Amino acid sequence: MKDLFGQALLDYQNSISTGSMTTVEDIITSTSISDEDVLPLDYLFRSFKDMPKIEQKALQLAKGKILDVGCGAGSHSLYLQANGYDVRGIDISKGAIEVAIQRGVKEAVVMNVLDEINTFDTILLLMNGTGIFQELASVSKYLNHLKSLLNTQGQILIDSSDIKYMYEDEDGGFWFDANSNYYGELDYFLSYKNENEVPMKWLYLDFNTLFTACKSLGLNCELISEGEHFDYLARISN
Ligand SMILES: C[S@@+](CC[C@H](N)C(=O)[O-])C[C@H]1O[C@@H](n2cnc3c(N)ncnc32)[C@H](O)[C@@H]1O
Repeated sequence: MKDLFGQALLDYQNSISTGSMTTVEDIITSTSISDEDVLPLDYLFRSFKDMPKIEQKALQLAKGKILDVGCGAGSHSLYLQANGYDVRGIDISKGAIEVAIQRGVKEAVVMNVLDEINTFDTILLLMNGTGIFQELASVSKYLNHLKSLLNTQGQILIDSSDIKYMYEDEDGGFWFDANSNYYGELDYFLSYKNENEVPMKWLYLDFNTLFTACKSLGLNCELISEGEHFDYLARISN
């Protein structure tokens, strides 16, 4: 991984602190089933009022000692910290963690969630949190690990989307092959300042598939709320 995502966050953070926007460009993303799209950097620095309703809901439900998995620039961690919570942010992006620290996240560590060993009352995975699982075959591995990090009465708050709509043609039919991979498994491409990141796998998981995976591991999975575009927030608990 070249960490272009982290580089972009660092450039943006620098531009805010120096007041010069000259070095800032947005991130360009695309996937195996969609064309290029712009990810505006300021979205990754959003405040509570600019967050989608399902993220606001997740922050309102958070309690106790909190782990923010894939914290990025630390927007969710900062809100929770400002509200008196003990929050730890982790991310595999070195640049993202540098930015989270610069923005004031007190505990932010470069770490893959699979290497986390501390336990928490709330584990947050937000902005398509199931993306981190990468593919359907890895969901149990990640959920089992997350389960091992939960304190008694702990909860995992995770959002995702059912992206079936992306395969819908004009006649209302769906063009994915039911015999091939799960339709939410995508290849994700990111570029920044004309440089391409190493392609990643990124998983969108519909609620029923997440529910079934949780059930098979003895976890409860509850639909908390639905967003405006096939997105949802789920709460997973022991
Ligand atoms: C879509 S971004 C979301 C960032 C942030 N949560 C937000 O909402 O602004 C996903 C983040 O997860 C991080 N990530 C991906 N896989 C990870 C893993 N296995 N462990 C920890 N972080 C991971 C990425 O580096 C990236 O910062």
